[in-house]
Amino acid sequence: MDRNKYNMLREDIMKIVVVFGTRPEIIKMAPIIDEIINRGIDLSIIHTGQHYDKEMSDNFFNDLEIPAPDYNIHVGSGSHGKQTGLMMDGIEKVLLNEKADIVLVQGDTNAALAGALVASKLHIAVGHVESGLRSFDMTMPEEINRRVCDVTTLMYFVPTEESAINLLAEGYSRKNLFITGNTIVDACYRHLEIAKKKGFDNESLINLDIENMENIITLTMHRAENVDDKHRVSNVVDALKELDDTNIIFPIHPRTKKTLEKFGLFDELNGLEHIHIIKPLGYLDFLLLNSKSKLILTDSGGLQEEAITLGLPALTLRYNTERPETVTAGGNILVGSDKEAILKYANKILNDEEFANKMKNAKNPYGDGNSAIQIVDAIEEYYAKRLLDIKSPEHIMPSFDRKMALIDEDITVKDFERKYDTLIHTVFDGDKICFPYDDLNLKEMCVNYDAFHY
Ligand code: UD1
Ligand code: UDP
Repeated sequence: MDRNKYNMLREDIMKIVVVFGTRPEIIKMAPIIDEIINRGIDLSIIHTGQHYDKEMSDNFFNDLEIPAPDYNIHVGSGSHGKQTGLMMDGIEKVLLNEKADIVLVQGDTNAALAGALVASKLHIAVGHVESGLRSFDMTMPEEINRRVCDVTTLMYFVPTEESAINLLAEGYSRKNLFITGNTIVDACYRHLEIAKKKGFDNESLINLDIENMENIITLTMHRAENVDDKHRVSNVVDALKELDDTNIIFPIHPRTKKTLEKFGLFDELNGLEHIHIIKPLGYLDFLLLNSKSKLILTDSGGLQEEAITLGLPALTLRYNTERPETVTAGGNILVGSDKEAILKYANKILNDEEFANKMKNAKNPYGDGNSAIQIVDAIEEYYAKRLLDIKSPEHIMPSFDRKMALIDEDITVKDFERKYDTLIHTVFDGDKICFPYDDLNLKEMCVNYDAFHY
């Protein structure tokens, strides 16, 4: 898109409000914040305060060079209901005074849920960054959050075609859907270079002499369903103990530190020579550590994406993933908290070069590092065309039927929609769901479309 194409259409300046509260949101929003600032768009940042330790929040503002939040709601830790409720109250107070044209939320945290719910009820457009991911596991708080966010969203920024198809299959229109890749790639590419020039800054990593260490495994673990479950966490710990010819660097999430202490496992693990438990790392140090690792062992969402972006084999300590593209591409294996599976695949990656290389060479499904540009381009276009304005209808709305048809003519999606004044949602090529790109030829395909009645 031509950067200046829409600038002349409106003279007033757009206002974007970004809401976040946790470490991964700060990291993944940073490239978008950069892009917003570079284009001179008005910006306010609301930090919910869900993550508050220096290592989980402030350090990322420094490493990623983004401005301090304009507002911090300081919700702190608590139950989901309390935390989300306090966030909603705080965000609403801010949004009532900010003339936001769009509120951007990211991912699947309570901050994203609170920001999206409040904004949509105030009739402010919601842009959901990293929309459409599904683990299909409703026991995860994140699955509930991301689904509810998508219900309230006006602009869907989906990382991959697979996520877009999740939304189509749930009946969402493709109209406001943008396949943009994931901003984690933007963040990764840019900051790994900076990190390499800078070298390690973290005292623990310097003391460990990471540069000269062999067989490094980076481990992160914080998922509620893992670390709050004694049986699961013990299985993982048992596997870690047996990987004693490696060096496991474990920047520990505060939640995990607390539960390992509660289960009496922390001291035992920390006492092992090959396991190095350290505080959570800043983004630059963490990326650099990853780049020196042979293997990533994690239950993190963002890290599954970063591993395939950096060409690092990943073993995911979960029984499902909302990032199945990483598994299909061959860069990620789900091992759950199954001790035998963890050991089998870790040893294979460490000892079987061919196997490891195959994983390293998996194609990154999350784009080429231009996601933030694409996202802000799309927002600028919508703003210029007044598509962000949400108003109560002033005319009788058309009713519509959802219909299916088998297409026997040579016609593209765009031409079909024009010819029949319709909107296509989903296209089926046999039993395969296809994304209805404008130029897709529909001949012999089955389409699901809206027929309008005025
Ligand atoms: C949250 C997100 C999760 C995301 C993760 C990123 C939800 C529901 N969960 O999980 O999706 O993957 O952030 O890291 O939004 N704590 C501290 N200091 C802090 C923050 C937390 O000590 O700065 C401790 C507290 O004991 C707290 C616990 O960690 O109770 C869990 O924190 P919380 O923010 O509730 O959930 P996360 O596990 O971090
Ligand atoms: N990360 C970091 N320092 C650490 C651990 C993780 O900078 O010590 C980064 C990591 O690079 C990734 C993000 O934090 O970009 C992932 O956050 P987390 O695992 O907390 O959340 P999730 O992605 O699972 O929601």
